[in-house]
Amino acid sequence: MTHAVVVGAGGREHALARALRRDGAEVTVTPGNDGMRADGLRCVADGAVARSADLVIVGPEEPLVAGVADELRATGVAVVGPGADGARLEGSKAFLKRFLADAGVPTAEHATFSEVAAAQEWLRARPGPYVIKTDGLAAGKGVLVTSDLAEALADVAAKVSGDAFGDAGRTVVLEEFLDGEECSVLALCDGTRVVPLLPAQDYKRVGDLHTGPNTGGMGARAPLAAMGPGELAEVQARILAPTVRALRARGIDYRGVLYAGIMMTSQGPRLLEYNVRFGDPETQVVVPLWGPGFLDTMVACATGALDVAPTFSSGAAVTVVLAAPGYPQRPVLGGRIEGLGADGQPLAARPGVCVYHAGTRQTEDGGFVTAGGRVLAVTAVAADEATARDEAYAVAETISFEGRVMRTDIAARSEA
Ligand SMILES: Nc1ncnc2c1ncn2[C@@H]1O[C@H](COP(=O)(O)OP(=O)(O)O)[C@@H](O)[C@H]1O
Ligand SMILES: [Mg+2]
Repeated sequence: MTHAVVVGAGGREHALARALRRDGAEVTVTPGNDGMRADGLRCVADGAVARSADLVIVGPEEPLVAGVADELRATGVAVVGPGADGARLEGSKAFLKRFLADAGVPTAEHATFSEVAAAQEWLRARPGPYVIKTDGLAAGKGVLVTSDLAEALADVAAKVSGDAFGDAGRTVVLEEFLDGEECSVLALCDGTRVVPLLPAQDYKRVGDLHTGPNTGGMGARAPLAAMGPGELAEVQARILAPTVRALRARGIDYRGVLYAGIMMTSQGPRLLEYNVRFGDPETQVVVPLWGPGFLDTMVACATGALDVAPTFSSGAAVTVVLAAPGYPQRPVLGGRIEGLGADGQPLAARPGVCVYHAGTRQTEDGGFVTAGGRVLAVTAVAADEATARDEAYAVAETISFEGRVMRTDIAARSEA
């Protein structure tokens, strides 16, 4: 039996762990969370458990940037997740932009600055909207997109001074604004081959109709009308394939998820950024649609043997995130959650619907309280998107806590 370890503690890791279990693996999550434990998954606080695994999937980006995949590979463990060299694609946006230029991958025009006055001058010379990114990791909160020049100038000052994001913000990347529909194309790379998964869409802003600040993600859907086979083939040819060639040319043996954030502009697809791991919450819609063989495909990806493309169900999946009051700026935690059983799944069970736990704590009486900014993701799989949305919301409405933050427009009809 394959012993598979999932590194991480959120809804993404819960979805990965469930899929591995479905395929017959013995699964450990480190550190995991109470909701996974209630779901019967083994959770271990000490990350050293990964060293004795047959397969490790690293969920979050920080450990990858820190070189955890290199350490594990050095001891002979098969890992889904690049080494520190490949993880720089996500760890430094300035590095990414240089890499893309060398590789000839279409992306937004940009300039990199570590000095406030020069950065502000670049902004003043342009009409906007303005896009300002921290070079380093900022948990999905380091990018400001605004049409307000004064706000843009202040943001650059706050970032470069270190006040806003510490060292991660001392260098900023300023970009041309790209207009279009945004899609997430998660692909698997085995060092040589790169195979896109089902395209998905993440709802990044906290409020309905894409208002308010960016978050870790408030919901997702897959597949996408805007990214059909023709568009996907273009992404493969113009973005993913040249990226893997350029990685190899630099001697980088990239094994893991290559997640392309794509803007579908009137001039064709443009790469917004790469992430080097599964997306959260895209994973909560892509993995439940995966056909048989998720475990085998993960092993193939990690061992350089990705010769069979994964298959997906013909249906659709929608996930709705429930977040704590005050999310994303100042989440207030500890609220009692109604509507879950002692197994962490909805009391109002419906076929095709399940709950992935992101930030929950189980109390002595078997109930749950909120313990993270994002609390739960409610995923529904159905024959079509409208049914999946209705099912996800029907169950989400039965799960409540004080001040619950939830978008009501995930996969809304107007967006279809
Ligand atoms: N050049 C751009 N034009 C328009 N919107 C952008 C641009 N770059 C980023 N964005 C928006 O900002 C979000 C965050 O940017 P991204 O580069 O993905 O950084 P991160 O995920 O690290 O915060 C994107 O999902 C997209 O919605
Ligand atoms: Mg992003």
